[in-house]
Amino acid sequence: MIEFKSVRKSFGSVDALRGVSFEVPTGQVTVLIGPSGCGKTTSLRMINRMIEPTDGDVLMDGRKVGSFAPEELRRGIGYVIQSVGLFPHMSVRDNIGIVPRLLGWEKQKRYERAAELLDLVGLEPAAYGEKYPHELSGGEAQRIGVARALAADPPVMLMDEPFGAVDPLNREVLQKEFVALQRKLRKTVVFVTHDLDEAIRLADEIILMRDGEIVQMGPPERILAAPADEFVRNFVGNDRALKRLACFRVEDHMQRADLLAESDVGAVTIGAESGDGHDGSGLYWVHDDSRHLIGVLDSAGLSDRPPSQDDVTTVRARDVSVSPLSDLREALSRLLGQGMRAVPVLDSEERVLGEVRLPDIEALNQTGFVR
Ligand SMILES: Nc1ncnc2c1ncn2[C@@H]1O[C@H](COP(=O)(O)OP(=O)(O)O)[C@@H](O)[C@H]1O
Ligand SMILES: [Mg+2]
Repeated sequence: MIEFKSVRKSFGSVDALRGVSFEVPTGQVTVLIGPSGCGKTTSLRMINRMIEPTDGDVLMDGRKVGSFAPEELRRGIGYVIQSVGLFPHMSVRDNIGIVPRLLGWEKQKRYERAAELLDLVGLEPAAYGEKYPHELSGGEAQRIGVARALAADPPVMLMDEPFGAVDPLNREVLQKEFVALQRKLRKTVVFVTHDLDEAIRLADEIILMRDGEIVQMGPPERILAAPADEFVRNFVGNDRALKRLACFRVEDHMQRADLLAESDVGAVTIGAESGDGHDGSGLYWVHDDSRHLIGVLDSAGLSDRPPSQDDVTTVRARDVSVSPLSDLREALSRLLGQGMRAVPVLDSEERVLGEVRLPDIEALNQTGFVR
């Protein structure tokens, strides 16, 4: 755990931090957010002693960071910044291997680790290991930056607007990858951003700052549901009800889905077998022999006659579906886009795992909300 105790920082006459206290729980993602100049980067750089406090203490597992030798401290802390800072004259795998090399790892072991990390951040090791930074796209370079920070497997990761320079579409991809990665690695992450949507997607805890002070902290859904004051209310915006849906993951809110094999359409009477009072969406997800989603059948349109192929609406799985790690805001947007009562949740093989239903999203939006 990382702990800030009444930390102040002055740069000459500028008070960058005016006494902030907070805790960063082990294995969780804590996001520092707030307008430019509010003190996010200053706070982050105090954790690895790139900046020393004017007053107060920063503790790592109960010990003042000032009592560690900086290199000892930083070995356990990965640092990722926006501009990445890859060395242009070094190959990707040598860039990733910088810290392992300082730690005296053999070349063989460094290259194996680089390959493992490239794989982890979604880049083909054989194709990328030998490349040079100028051959990478922005998103790829950012993935290498993350891989490099992870090289010596540090328990703590500091990330300062790491995806800030990437275009919005790729940023969303990187955010999703980050969520999946963190689920595997469970690092203690302090993540700085000024993008609220990004904070909502990634954070276990949000710390919202303004002018060197903390205005509100807590899980994203609580900040969106109950902003502490006018500043927070304005910061989160008046569509906070919709934004809050991004705090919830599909896998936690999906329901059982009714499936129908394409070869059974016309051969079965819908509803007969589930005669014990159907309480689902009434949508049947039609799949082919390999269980890939290919269409949807609305049982409400049948009124007791057996379905025919004409009743099946063909769908393109990728366009209508969400994945278990998607958020409910995305699920809602799919729902509205398709004009359907539910969206299917697919695994990576396009097989149906379940569905997310509109009434469940509505119900969720009415709980815990303070106007
Ligand atoms: N080295 C420095 N010298 C003087 N002022 C600084 C320095 N670093 C940061 N500041 C000031 O401290 C405040 C907080 O900066 P910073 O932590 O970088 O903000 P943020 O990351 O939230 O945008 C700002 O007013 C900034 O101008
Ligand atoms: Mg900053």
